[in-house]
Amino acid sequence: MTSSLHGLSSRETYGTLSIGAAMTSPEKHVLIVGVGSIGERHLRCFQRTGRVRLSLCEINPELRRRIADQYGVERAYADLDSALADPPDAAVIATPASLHIPMAIQLAEAGTHVLIEKPLSTGLDGIDELRETVARRKVCVAVAYVLRHHPALRAMREAIRSGRFGRPVQVVVVTGQHFPKYRPAYREIYYRDRAMGGGAIQDALTHTMNAVQWLVGPIDRLIADAAHQVLEGVEVEDTAHLLARHGDVLASYSLNQYQAPNELTITVVGTEGTCRLELHRHRWAWMTEPDTPWQEQTFEGLQRDDLFVAQANAFLDMLDGEAEPTCGLEEAIQTLKANLAALASADDGQWKLTGNK
Ligand SMILES: NC(=O)c1ccc[n+]([C@@H]2O[C@H](COP(=O)([O-])OP(=O)(O)OC[C@H]3O[C@@H](n4cnc5c(N)ncnc54)[C@H](O)[C@@H]3O)[C@@H](O)[C@H]2O)c1
Repeated sequence: MTSSLHGLSSRETYGTLSIGAAMTSPEKHVLIVGVGSIGERHLRCFQRTGRVRLSLCEINPELRRRIADQYGVERAYADLDSALADPPDAAVIATPASLHIPMAIQLAEAGTHVLIEKPLSTGLDGIDELRETVARRKVCVAVAYVLRHHPALRAMREAIRSGRFGRPVQVVVVTGQHFPKYRPAYREIYYRDRAMGGGAIQDALTHTMNAVQWLVGPIDRLIADAAHQVLEGVEVEDTAHLLARHGDVLASYSLNQYQAPNELTITVVGTEGTCRLELHRHRWAWMTEPDTPWQEQTFEGLQRDDLFVAQANAFLDMLDGEAEPTCGLEEAIQTLKANLAALASADDGQWKLTGNK
């Protein structure tokens, strides 16, 4: 079975604007903090929603000018303090992960809602203060685990949660991509340093741990094996293997950042059937009887920006009180604890409790 994108509801329209919302709710002022690789994408994709006016904040003067000119952004600030002289309704934090929590606290204190890039942070410092500030200032927080906006993952999750495949008992994640092809500057950015959020576990594995958590619940214990195998010019791990328990579900993950195929598969085996996300083919498939063909649903023509436009619309819907965060603060803290446990386990080879029970 093949579905076109046009079969999705207006709120989940990929690649086109959510026109209804633009007409009913006032335009919001959204600040993009950091307009490097992903910040530029957020800026472009929030612009595509047609629901916001944008400003940006970037410490690199050349980049600040170039992106402001390219996207016609009038207000481009050199630092967050200047940007907060006129507090925006909301902000996207797209700086290295080590800056996410202090920036989120400063923004929340100013009454600004925040969409924080993944991973939430590189440690647990400041988490309690962020929780307290968010509650006191009554601001909304979402964390940008963008896979949750992929229609194939969403469809597979709905089917799992409906009980169609029985009780999930096993998950197998296999993924890899040629990072230098997609991120030639990897040696110069946060990626080179674990303390800034670098390495395969915090940069890439975190996406899949968060996605599986969304399907079957959080990781409560794990053991990891990771190493630097191939990528030139850095010493952080570029290969990671993980065995994990998501409650009663046994999971395994394998990931590298140098293979030619750009692939992600997540297989969930249930007591009544098996389903598999093939992200690189924008499809998910299922089989409930042995020796029968896979059945599948494919979402044709999806572009990477489409997921970010969907994420931007979901965030704006949340600000309009029409939706819960797709990944809220507490869920992102659970993934952060899994990241930290995986790093610690990779270093000493021991099973780790994440504290998520
Ligand atoms: N969701 C995804 O698919 C995805 C992809 C890539 C990166 N990310 C995440 O996004 C974050 C940023 O990654 P990136 O690849 O865009 O990195 P990047 O280095 O390309 O961009 C970060 C930008 O932040 C700016 N910056 C640093 N400190 C600042 C400050 N104090 N004030 C204002 N600007 C500041 C830098 O000058 C830089 O331009 C990381 O947490 C990363 O893990 C997510």
